Order: sequence, then C-alpha cells, then structure tokens
Amino acid sequence: MPQRGRFITLEGGEGVGKSTNVAFVAGWLEAQGLEVVRTREPGGTPLAESIRALLLATTFDEPLDTDAELLLMFAARAQHLAEKIEPALSRGAWVVCDRFTDATFAYQGGGRGIDPARIATLERFVQKGLAPDLTLLLDMPPEASAERLAGRMRTQNTHLDRFEREQAAFFSAVRGAYLERAKAEPERFAVIDAARPLDQVQQVLEQVLSERVAPWR
Ligand code: TMP
Repeated sequence: MPQRGRFITLEGGEGVGKSTNVAFVAGWLEAQGLEVVRTREPGGTPLAESIRALLLATTFDEPLDTDAELLLMFAARAQHLAEKIEPALSRGAWVVCDRFTDATFAYQGGGRGIDPARIATLERFVQKGLAPDLTLLLDMPPEASAERLAGRMRTQNTHLDRFEREQAAFFSAVRGAYLERAKAEPERFAVIDAARPLDQVQQVLEQVLSERVAPWR
C-alpha cells in the first residue's frame, strides 16, 4: 500500500491571489517529485462544479436561502471528497485545494452568521474525521483585496459573482473568522501576509513548505 498523500488547502478572502499561489504551491511540490492533484471548492468534479455554478449564479430571481447555501457547499464537498480527494490521497498523491471547510466557517459562519456549531456538525458528517494537514491562509485587509478585484474586473471584463457582490462588512467578518480559526489551530495554519508583492509572498510560501513538508517525507 502506498503511503497516504497529504492534503494542503489555500484560503483567504476575494482577490488575495489564491489562484496564482495554488499554482505556485502545486508546482513547488511537483518539483520535489511528488504526484500532485490540484483542485478547488466549491467544485473539483463535474457534478460539484454544477453545484458551484448554482452557488455563484446571480441570475435567479429568488434569494438563495442561507441554510440551502450551506448545504449545497457540503453537498459539493461530499461529492468532491468521494470522487477526487479521497482516491487521490489513498493512492499517495498530494492534494492542493483552493478553499475547503475553513471557507465555510469564514463565509457561511462569519459572513452569513450561521452558528459554527451547526457547521461543525456537517463537517463531521461529511468529512468523517478528514481534515487538511496544512492550511495556507493568504491574509489581506478587505479594502486592499476589493481594489484588486476592481482592477481584475476592469482588465478582464468579468462580472461579479454572488459572493463578490457582498458589502465590506461581510468581507471583514469573513477575514475575522479566518484569523480566529488560524489562531485556534496554529499547528495546522500558516498565516501569510498577502498584501506584499507576489515574489515576497512566494518566498514565504516556499519557506513554509520547506519547513512543514520535509518532516512528512
Ligand atoms: P473562489 O472565487 O475562490 O473560487 O470561491 C468561490 C466563492 O465561494 C468565494 O466567494 C467563496 C465562496 N465559498 C463559500 O462561501 N463557502 C465555502 O465553503 C467555499 C469553499 C467557498
């Protein structure tokens, strides 16, 4: 039986540079000779990506109920775990995931105000004890990330999804909830100042990976 792979997640608010840094982390691990599966939430499989489309859509003329949003996040996650994450970890691949359950505690808990105890119940039900081995939290004041988001909109001509349309208070609650989780589990989290230039952020990421990955090999 191959040694089980490791599960690494990247988290943070909107516009903190997650996609670029997910690619960087995956590339760094591949350069160490590891098999890496790069994925994201909500989504990661065709069915879970369909649930993602429902979650991000702005086209329905009825509001998405807060509990329905929470359950859809976990429905997508259950599918993603069964079809992609668990099989990869079992065959010894390392999984690098753009967001996971910390995002649910931050967005549905912090942002929407759902009791974290209810989220923890679903977490146990769906994940059956599985948790990330390492979580890289890209942290930035929401004002700075809002500026980045606005810049991306101008240059790439994209529209804002249902979460990106939230107000400043929502994003500062999201950030607060992320930082609280990081404080509660310092051995799992590394908090990275993402307001710095990209090359400096990646230097820190490389340092964290070198320190944390070596003992696992
Ligand atoms: P993305 O833009 O980083 O791909 O994520 C899509 C959105 O989904 C983002 O605004 C955060 C939100 N989200 C939640 O609200 N709860 C979750 O559990 C996850 C994984 C994402």
